[in-house]
Amino acid sequence: MITLIFTTGRVELGGVTDRSSSSRQLDINAGKSLWARYAEGTAGREPVKFLDVALEKTDGRNGRDRLVIDLGSGAGNEALVLLDHGWRVLAVDGEPRAIEILESRVPEALAPRLETRISGFADIDLPTAELVFASLSLPFAGDDLDRAVRTALDAVAPEGWFVGVLFGVNDTWAAEPDIAVVGVGEIEEWFAGLANIEIREEEFDGPSGSGPKHWHWYVVSAQRPGES
Ligand SMILES: C[S@@+](CC[C@H](N)C(=O)[O-])C[C@H]1O[C@@H](n2cnc3c(N)ncnc32)[C@H](O)[C@@H]1O
Repeated sequence: MITLIFTTGRVELGGVTDRSSSSRQLDINAGKSLWARYAEGTAGREPVKFLDVALEKTDGRNGRDRLVIDLGSGAGNEALVLLDHGWRVLAVDGEPRAIEILESRVPEALAPRLETRISGFADIDLPTAELVFASLSLPFAGDDLDRAVRTALDAVAPEGWFVGVLFGVNDTWAAEPDIAVVGVGEIEEWFAGLANIEIREEEFDGPSGSGPKHWHWYVVSAQRPGES
């Protein structure tokens, strides 16, 4: 079954916006240094609200040593919460500075449960995990989005969950050549083999690290059926 929920108007962003600069423009071609600045500017902010979805779906406040892959972890604001809740965390990010910041923030007692990888989303061999969490990250795979999503979903263990965010066609950044946007049809195709699919579509005007913009995203959660 697929549940579709649509929201417009005011949406609580959680810690989505970065504090690094409100005047600079998004310059995706700045590549590495853009994401380094993003990680530096967002380290220590509140976890994004999508983490709550992941925690609810997975009984995630009781990590029970399960493995979560945090795809595009940035500075690790969500990874640190997951570690604290008893998960083992594999944090993946293409930006070395983001991983460096995350590693510097992990309390010594939790460090043995954290593994990190500096890698693109599409070219990575992932272990299976009880949760694959991809907050505001997969759209930046650009032309590699299809491969990146399939790689992420392949990593979801039986009875495990995917929770992630994809951008829709009305997002201001749809015009950016290296940011991928999708429609519900593509999402349904990718998630066809999974169960308990919920697609929460949200559209609103709000702040971003590069100034005010129109946000259009799908918060997608789905569970891989158990093995019979
Ligand atoms: C907008 S940030 C999101 C960070 C965090 N997940 C959050 O919700 O705030 C996107 C992250 O994805 C990483 N990223 C962007 N494109 C990537 C790619 N193709 N492969 C791996 N990481 C990428 C960036 O370095 C950055 O840390």
